[in-house]
Amino acid sequence: MTHDRIPLAGVIGSPVAHSRSPQLHGHWLKSLGLRGFYIPMDVARDDLAQVIRTLPRMGFVGANVTVPHKEAVMAIADKISDRATLIGAANTLIFREDGTIHADNTDGYGFIENLRHGAPDWRADAGPAVVLGAGGAARAVIAALTDAGVPEIVLSNRTRVRAERLKDDFGQRVQVVDWVQAGNALDDAALVVNTTSLGMVGQPELRVPLDGLRKGQVVTDLVYTPLKTRLLAAAEQVGCETVDGLGMLLYQAVPGFERWFGVRPVVDDEARAAALR
Ligand code: ATR
Repeated sequence: MTHDRIPLAGVIGSPVAHSRSPQLHGHWLKSLGLRGFYIPMDVARDDLAQVIRTLPRMGFVGANVTVPHKEAVMAIADKISDRATLIGAANTLIFREDGTIHADNTDGYGFIENLRHGAPDWRADAGPAVVLGAGGAARAVIAALTDAGVPEIVLSNRTRVRAERLKDDFGQRVQVVDWVQAGNALDDAALVVNTTSLGMVGQPELRVPLDGLRKGQVVTDLVYTPLKTRLLAAAEQVGCETVDGLGMLLYQAVPGFERWFGVRPVVDDEARAAALR
């Protein structure tokens, strides 16, 4: 009988060893006194469909999907949420009792929740948001900012055509500026978001000129290794409100955990510490 089963969930990626999700979900399961397991699964692209189809039969109630499978998983799911469709990628799978697989994307939710908790005074209508980068993460961020009612999004990416494509998908509120002009766009920003991998340990530094930053702006970085990137350090120095990227990882995990294990987990210092272990 299904209600006697211990619920299983996990994260599917390749590589997956670096994922913080097993520690985070493991911490929540333990601290909430719940029965359940959350397991990392390194799955090759060729095995993805078969693994995902097999998991429900093994007692899995769902899974997170991470790099590089977030797009590919869309073709395997039976039902895809509007958010995931708009973003073109899914990070959360729910295995329903009727045998169907539902795909959702909670990255945008994670982004906006992190921003709202980290910078409670930020208002969506305060002014333009400057978004650096136009990859998968940027799509989720722009979807969330558009939903939240940000009036104008200034998008800048090294490869301009990718930014133009996002503008086509998200409409008039998105303006594209050249990567070499990105620094100039900071002057008028109410919010600045780095969605590129620049500044991450092992990656090149973000070299966008930051003299446009000033007090009153909110600056957030999706990079969380290190927690205080050059962008956040520079922003802090001139009195901006800063929000680090670890919270996005924590908040994006909340809806999946709640669906699978039946309890809404709390994002607090203990959860942060668990994710960093
Ligand atoms: P993600 O899903 O994390 O967004 P991605 O789709 O690979 O990953 O996107 C990575 C982002 O970082 C892109 O905006 C990329 O710019 P390009 O579209 O020009 O590739 C940006 N990025 C990565 N390395 C970069 C570099 N050395 N200089 C500038 N931008 C870089």
